[in-house]
Amino acid sequence: MQQINPQLRIIKDEVLSCTKCPLYKTRIFPVIGQGNHQASIVLVGEAPGFNENKTGRPFCGQAGAVLDELLEFAEIKREDIYICNILKCRPPGNRNPLQYEIDACTPYLVRQLEIIKPKIVCCLGNFASCFIMNLFGLSNQCDGISKIHGRVFEVNDDKWKIKIIPLYHPAVAAYNQNMIESLKNDFKILKDGKLK
Ligand code: URA
Ligand code: SF4
Repeated sequence: MQQINPQLRIIKDEVLSCTKCPLYKTRIFPVIGQGNHQASIVLVGEAPGFNENKTGRPFCGQAGAVLDELLEFAEIKREDIYICNILKCRPPGNRNPLQYEIDACTPYLVRQLEIIKPKIVCCLGNFASCFIMNLFGLSNQCDGISKIHGRVFEVNDDKWKIKIIPLYHPAVAAYNQNMIESLKNDFKILKDGKLK
């Protein structure tokens, strides 16, 4: 049985009524995060899209179909990992997150990571990669996703023993077979728990 973490439950309640940035005005449901509260792998995406806004579930649309293919390839079950985003509410028209929205929203993500304490964080796309790398003191190595995708950045300090892996966002692969191959190649590293 899935253990529900009471601290994650508190975050859920806070996000459901959050008005810290204007995106609350157009959300139907926030996408708080889904999956195993004791996950050793956390995936961080960018923001909810059209379908996610309607359901409150991360990666349930077209990008989600690509992600599911990648997870299947890596033999990882969704229920064993935790999936969340930089922004909990959908930017209108799926535009890029704005800096002040990221500043307002990411304290929730940071708390989620502090509670779950994963061994591995996979960052999907540029926004997630830059935010997470900054958070873990790796900003000087955040060089654009096309250069750093698939690399493993290790953080080992007083607070964290964690591996950060920037990846292309699955949405870029929705119509591009070459990108799928590149993503699969990067996902190989997650296969067989090679990193644990
Ligand atoms: N794209 C994301 O970055 N996150 C989602 O949850 C869905 C699409
Ligand atoms: Fe709050 Fe984040 Fe939604 Fe903005 S995007 S309203 S900060 S939950």
